[in-house]
Amino acid sequence: YIKVYEMNNFQFKNPTKILFGKDQIKNLANEIPANAKILMLFGGGSIKKNGIYTQVKEALSNFEVVEMGGIPPNPEYSILINALKIIKSENITFLLAVGGGSVIDGTKFISAAALYEGESPWNLVASQVPITKGMPFGSVLTLPATGSEMNSGAVITRREIKVKLPISGPGLFPVFSILDPQVVKSIPQKQIANGLADAFTHVLEQYVTYPVEALLQDRFAESILQTLVEVAPVILKNPSDYKAASNFMWSCTMALNGLIQKGVPSDWSIHAMGHELTALFNIDHARTLAIITKSHYTHNFDSKKEKLAQLAERVWNVKEGTLEEKAIAGINNIEKFFHSLGIKTKLSEYTQDFEGAAVTIANRFIERGMKGIGENKNVSPRDVAEIVTMSY
Ligand code: NZQ
Ligand code: ZN
Repeated sequence: YIKVYEMNNFQFKNPTKILFGKDQIKNLANEIPANAKILMLFGGGSIKKNGIYTQVKEALSNFEVVEMGGIPPNPEYSILINALKIIKSENITFLLAVGGGSVIDGTKFISAAALYEGESPWNLVASQVPITKGMPFGSVLTLPATGSEMNSGAVITRREIKVKLPISGPGLFPVFSILDPQVVKSIPQKQIANGLADAFTHVLEQYVTYPVEALLQDRFAESILQTLVEVAPVILKNPSDYKAASNFMWSCTMALNGLIQKGVPSDWSIHAMGHELTALFNIDHARTLAIITKSHYTHNFDSKKEKLAQLAERVWNVKEGTLEEKAIAGINNIEKFFHSLGIKTKLSEYTQDFEGAAVTIANRFIERGMKGIGENKNVSPRDVAEIVTMSY
């Protein structure tokens, strides 16, 4: 593994068409092939209370639509596979996800599983092989947070074995996604806070690494962080504020649609550890990130201090002090940001069963053959145990 201090080579293709703005759901029919038979997938029913379900059904009035609700947060394998029978028996040709990251991720898995020829669809997750083909699908986003609406990743849970693992590949991009910021007004405060924290951490994972003179990518990343810091208090106070909602929504998409990651190292250790906390304790995804971040950056301070100091300077205007002092200010400002969203940052504030978590998680990483994670591939299972312990 060779560390370079210049921009990496890259390829960039993002085929997802975005329809952004007020009342864009009305344009849904134009984006779906005329003869399509649609399976509409959604979650626990929020769309029936906030009017999004009705808007979608009206827009699809000329199509044959079969529905499957009940995709839970942290989309569950044993529920998702029920869609495969419907797809076969109803001759479905197009999938439509109406929901947040969980519904879109679940739909991505179903899309891949529908065309999978192997023995068990779980192999798509277990094998960790890039997914190259899937049934075409679009999304109507109801919760800004994950960026799933414009990327080719998904995270799938299987409770039976307490596992939560990512899948990805060029076959998993949505054909289109509809982003109407008016949906934000119905989202509970807690989920808005989660969205802000998740998107914020997505940028951190692709930015708090080591400098490679990628001036533009750094400024893309900083501008998303600055925008989230600016709109957070406004949107938390008033989710009906369209100006804040539109900036919140587009920032979440831009945080994880691949653009800011191009040519730069990325970390993703916080997510890897966070997914384990969700698998073990069922803590909301964004909150697991808030639990791990400070410990991870403190534990890996030496390799990350340049970018942490740059973050403090450019996002929070910290001009005084040495590089190390600025870097520490960066870590403390991240924690303050999570707290300003009402998000707690210690594992013991979420569960009393935390004691064995560090060892359990480290052992799972060892069992999966993981040697090191992070931008330097050197965060070992032993480091993971120390980081999780620091997060208690
Ligand atoms: O299920 P319903 O009834 O729809 O309620 C949902 C759910 O309870 C509710 N909600 C969504 N939109 C709403 C609304 N309530 C009222 N009004 C609305 N407009 O919010 C709750 C949470 O929804 P969920 O989809 O689980 O949240 P989120 O978007 O944060 O997604 C989290 C999942 O995405 C994965 C996470 O691991 C987690 O499983 N991630 C996916 C990523 C990706 N595909 O790129 C990257 C992320 O890092 C993340 O790992
Ligand atoms: Zn995330």
